[in-house]
Order: sequence, then C-alpha cells, then structure tokens
Amino acid sequence: MSVCADCQAADSSPALRNARVTIRDVARLAGVSLGTASNVLNNPTVVAAPTRLRVLDAIARTGFVRSTAAHQLRVGRSLTVGVLLLDLANPFFAEMVKGAEAVLRDKGYVLMVCSSDESPDQERRYLRALEEHRVDGLLTTPVERDLKDLAALAARGIPTVLLDRDAGGLGLCSVTVDDVRGGELAASHLIALGHTVVAFVNGPLSIRQCADRRQGARQAFRHASLRPERAMVEITVPALSVEQGEKVVERLLASIPRPTAVMCANDLLALGVLRGLTAAGIAVPGEVALVGYDDVAFAAMLSPALSSVRQPKYELGASAAMLFLEEVSGEEHEHRSVRFEPELVVRASSGGDKTTAISLPT
Ligand code: RIB
Repeated sequence: MSVCADCQAADSSPALRNARVTIRDVARLAGVSLGTASNVLNNPTVVAAPTRLRVLDAIARTGFVRSTAAHQLRVGRSLTVGVLLLDLANPFFAEMVKGAEAVLRDKGYVLMVCSSDESPDQERRYLRALEEHRVDGLLTTPVERDLKDLAALAARGIPTVLLDRDAGGLGLCSVTVDDVRGGELAASHLIALGHTVVAFVNGPLSIRQCADRRQGARQAFRHASLRPERAMVEITVPALSVEQGEKVVERLLASIPRPTAVMCANDLLALGVLRGLTAAGIAVPGEVALVGYDDVAFAAMLSPALSSVRQPKYELGASAAMLFLEEVSGEEHEHRSVRFEPELVVRASSGGDKTTAISLPT
C-alpha cells in the first residue's frame, strides 16, 4: 500500500504530524548535535555563523518553540507572574491588570491571570495551581481578611504583593486606596445635596474594601449630625455585581422612609441599581440620586452619567508590579504599603451637572 504524499510529509515533518517539535527534531534536520542546536538558542555566539543559520532555518521549518518549563529548570525562573483577583468580569480589576501588565511586559514577564469570583475555596485552588506553575511572584486581591495562606506562600519564596488590600502588618508589600475616605466622599456629597435618608448597597463586610467604605459613610453622617442608624439604609449583597444591584431595587423602594439617594460599593452595583430604578419608572437623579465607586470606563457613558468615587486603577496595578520587581531585583528591599487617595467625580446621576473632582478637606 503506497503512503500518500501528505502522510509521508506528515511523517517526516514533526510540525505536520501535530507532535510537539523538540530540539532533537531541529538538530536532526539541521544535521548538528543536540548541544549545538541548544547553543544556538542559549549561547549563539559560540556557534559558527553558517551552522547557526542552518539551525535557525530548521527551527523556522519545523515551527519549534522552546519550552519555558525546560528553560525555567535551567535558570530557576519562569518569567511568569500570577495575578489572582476577585472578579475579572469587573472592569476595575481589568484596568488594574493593564497597569501591572504594562510594567511587567517590559521586563519580559508574562501574566497568569485568575479570578477567585469572591470564593475563598476557588482562591485556595488558584493559589495552589499558581505555585505548581512555579510563578515568580503573585499580585492578588484576597477574598477574605485572613491572609495566612498568602503569608505561607510568601514564606515559601513567592514574592506576593497585595492589590487594593492592606497587608495589616503581615510583612507583604501592598497597594491600596483610602476606602474610608472614599466612603466619606460619596456620603458627604449626597448629604451636601440635601439627602437625609441614603441607601448604601454594599458587599460582604468580610471584604476589607466594603467594610472601609461603610466606615467612611458612617463618619460622614456623624460629621453632619445625622445618626447613621437612621440616615443609612444598609443593604448587603452577596456579590458586587450588576445582577445583585438590580435585585435590591425592590427592597430599596419598599423601605420606609424611602431613600432619596443610593450609594453603591462599586460601579457594577450602581449600574444594576440604575437599571432597576429605570425599569420601575423611577427618575435618576430626579427621584433618586445615585453614586457608584471605582469610576470604571462605562461610568461616564451611562445615561445619566454616573457620579462615582474614582480609584486610580491603572496606577494601582502598575505600582504593585513595580513593588514586585523591586523585591525580586536582589537589591535591598523593605516591604511597604503604597497608598492612593480617591476622588469624587460628580456627574448627572447624583444631581451634579458637571464632571468635577472634589475631595474632602484633610
Ligand atoms: O474588591 C471589592 C470592590 O472593590 C471591587 O468590586 C472593586 O469594584 C473595588 O471597588
């Protein structure tokens, strides 16, 4: 039985036979030793030019791609950084990843990005998987306040930087925003507009950012001589998502007295609340003023445009990446926390008619 030309080609050419091409295939095709082929990749100056060209030609013809696993074993680094965040569907985290990626890409690193989806179990599974992949470091927004798993990971030699989370004296670098100030900004803005009953749609208080924003809002009511217990209608949702924001509107409208304003722990919740209020025929801001948190890209595009507490998302990611690079540089490194200030961007959804940034007097 004759073998068809294509099958013969596939048999002779590893790239066609869909097998992973090895450096051995390249050496054979170029007619050189395995050592010479490997030198062309790792130490090309020791290989004579004509031989080097023959090997590079064989690499092009076979489609050979070096294995980072093998390279990693040799140099002890994967040039991969794990990024484990709460919710990749949230543009807040995507923007932070962009900032980190821009810094690390220039240093030859690749990111391995995972989402815990606010699940402690899923977070533990990913921490394990990233360690098994021998990442050189980890940037993460942990789900819970208990950071012992991260401390253990760092102790096992994986430099870990907390993103949008304080290390709480744990001996890790961190990059955060003053979320207490952020909550205070949002609530003070609504109080200044005359609102005395404000709904606060918040995530689980086990998430540090949610607890801090609540603390800031309560401070704002007290500063205005309003009792938080009466002035704040607190609604806690299991996840900071658009769906959860939409679901709470019925409870909001049934509250007595009915809130005339709503502040949300992030812009996804605010988008959900806006959708629910609009569906219920409630005018924003005419009947209910609305403020979000993060100032993600879509905030300005909504109708009405969303007032929101802006977090420097890109800078948060870039700063975390720089702290990681500093830690692995081999230079003297001291763990530290980089802290950013939030600012309120006033747009139409809260009754403000121009986009201006304000911040509380220090
Ligand atoms: O991490 C909790 C929240 O903080 C996220 O939903 C994100 O929006 C940030 O604001």
